[in-house]
Amino acid sequence: MASVTFKNVWKYYGKTPAVKDLNIECPDGSFVSILGPSGCGKSSTMRMLAGLEHISAGDILFDGERINDLPPKDRDVAMVFENYALYPHKTVLENIANPLRLRSVDDDMIKARVDAAAKLLEIDHLLDRRPHELSGGQKQRVAIGRAIVREPRLFLFDEPIAHLDAKLRAHMRGEIKHLQRTLGTTMIYVTHDQLEALSMADYIAVMHDGELQQWGTPSEIFNKPVNAWVAGFVGEPAMNFVTCDLVGHNQEVFLRHENFEIPLLPDQVGKLNGAASAGTARMGVRPDALEISLTKPHQPSITGEVFVNELLGGDMLVEVLLDGSRIRVKTVPEFDGQPGDRCHITVNREKWHIFDAMDGHAYF
Ligand SMILES: Nc1ncnc2c1ncn2[C@@H]1O[C@H](COP(=O)(O)OP(=O)(O)OP(=O)(O)O)[C@@H](O)[C@H]1O
Ligand SMILES: [Mg+2]
Repeated sequence: MASVTFKNVWKYYGKTPAVKDLNIECPDGSFVSILGPSGCGKSSTMRMLAGLEHISAGDILFDGERINDLPPKDRDVAMVFENYALYPHKTVLENIANPLRLRSVDDDMIKARVDAAAKLLEIDHLLDRRPHELSGGQKQRVAIGRAIVREPRLFLFDEPIAHLDAKLRAHMRGEIKHLQRTLGTTMIYVTHDQLEALSMADYIAVMHDGELQQWGTPSEIFNKPVNAWVAGFVGEPAMNFVTCDLVGHNQEVFLRHENFEIPLLPDQVGKLNGAASAGTARMGVRPDALEISLTKPHQPSITGEVFVNELLGGDMLVEVLLDGSRIRVKTVPEFDGQPGDRCHITVNREKWHIFDAMDGHAYF
């Protein structure tokens, strides 16, 4: 087990930076997810941790000790990749045992550790099979088994379940989290899937273009995104954004748009830091912080036109046309507005966000 610290870490490929000045601290025993879209520098970060890639600048520390110059074999980390990289001619047992054989661990110890891992992963009935006789999820478990028998101080999982089918992914999310909790080993888990990060991690590092956007708990990342980019990347269905004018009037500040004029809550005005006079801003609100009706409510509302309804099992997602934009509202399946109907949307202002129109940072 180990804490992991990145101090001003950079990764350059030639002259192009792939990781820019990364600073994070992963507590001992925690489950940390590195989340971001393709090409944002997730695997580069992992490869620097594992020692497979040179650190261009800055330091990586395990338990406060600088490991930049430690060879991979001395770092005591175990990696699991998306392409399991199992030996096709070896049995499941020998695949799992392989890292211990390489370390000349004695046979009794190997048997005990492989048995324990196989049991934990519920693959103890598959030990004599070869990889081609396994399903994708089973192969994934073998790869994980091979990582855990080493009892490393750090797990590095790089999109380990990305190409399994949706149902198996959902199952494996729970399994991997449970496994990490059982073993207590620090986990750095890379994914481009925001739901995976939100559901599994203690802390999430959101990356974009090689830069850390936000570090926080899943709830902080979801409820208090620091900028519009994080807000738009995390959450499904995605947050709605509408560009509005900020207008001050009689001590109050309003968000004004062709389709609405809604006052900010009193405590939100102070958070604008005087930007009320700045002109435009972006309102951000998630589909489930909106309510839709066909009759005009008493409180300030957004008036639009139903564009399309999508039934999502227990919910209905209604896409509404405004002047110059669209917003999506989560409502009940019984909502009976039809395309073309005039409708009214109220906003839960406790849950909306205002982002700077220029640089996208969140005022709240
Ligand atoms: N060996 C390399 N040489 C040159 N450029 C590289 C190399 N490896 C990665 N890159 C570039 O660095 C950037 C980050 O790549 P990285 O593999 O870290 O992204 P990622 O977040 O893991 O993406 P994905 O989700 O697609 O796996 C990309 O622009 C990529 O093209
Ligand atoms: Mg990658």
